[in-house]
Amino acid sequence: MIFYFSGTGNTRWAAETLAQATGEHLLFIPEEQQGRCEYTLTEGERIGFVFPTHGWQPPRIVRNFIKKMHINNAKGHYCYALTTCGDSIGVTMAILNGDLRKVGLPEATGLFSLVMPESYVCLPFMYTDTPEKEQRKIARAQEQLKEFSRMIVNREEGEVHIRKGPAPWTMSHVVGSYFNGRMVTDKKFTVDAEACIHCGKCEKVCPTGDVSLADGLPTWHHDGSCTCCLACYHHCPKHAINFGKITRRRGQYYFGHEG
Ligand SMILES: Cc1cc2nc3c(=O)[nH]c(=O)nc-3n(C[C@H](O)[C@H](O)[C@H](O)COP(=O)(O)O)c2cc1C
Repeated sequence: MIFYFSGTGNTRWAAETLAQATGEHLLFIPEEQQGRCEYTLTEGERIGFVFPTHGWQPPRIVRNFIKKMHINNAKGHYCYALTTCGDSIGVTMAILNGDLRKVGLPEATGLFSLVMPESYVCLPFMYTDTPEKEQRKIARAQEQLKEFSRMIVNREEGEVHIRKGPAPWTMSHVVGSYFNGRMVTDKKFTVDAEACIHCGKCEKVCPTGDVSLADGLPTWHHDGSCTCCLACYHHCPKHAINFGKITRRRGQYYFGHEG
């Protein structure tokens, strides 16, 4: 089983590639969390967690799901985790394993990080990558993912290409905790009513069902479900959605977009 989350498609692509290589099925965390979250593994089945790094931690939605989930026969099964990131992950994997330990699940022993195009643009120094850099990152990720797939199929253990970055503990536990506690919110999204063409793309792509059109314009429900994955921002064909004022002149990206 592969439990995954993705906002702008990088991680979906990685999870789908792993599903093909392992023959194991994909479970999308935002859908799974609506149900009982109880699972039984087949003999020898692997447990995979595949998610983007958010603020040098696993995204809140992934951590909340782990608290809720139960696997009836997890003991002895190989567990692995792959996180995609724009640059570095800090101690994301240690945090994930702490969460797994707390609920009695086996720790992930195969640990992989995959650098992909940047999706976070809501801070002064954060931009999408140039098209050339996006292409370079994806080309490299394609090669690495082949290697990761082979290792996961063979149930290999260890940290592989883990990009912790500078001051990893501080980035995850100090900066990341502030980020995920205070800056993951849907309250800062705005819509330019003149630019909006009422296409409903934002509603369709929001993985948590947090956006719907009211009088033709996107509205965010403020129900605590937003993970700030920025799918609504990046997919808007008119760049009519922004996060405060800061993203007005920032780029847009999603996996598989053209140009
Ligand atoms: C809210 C948020 C926080 C992010 N934090 C980090 C981070 O701490 N380190 C990093 O390298 N990339 C970070 N990123 C970039 C994403 O991890 C990266 O672009 C990822 O591949 C996006 O995956 P997705 O397309 O499946 O949503 C962040 C992106 C978002 C939306």
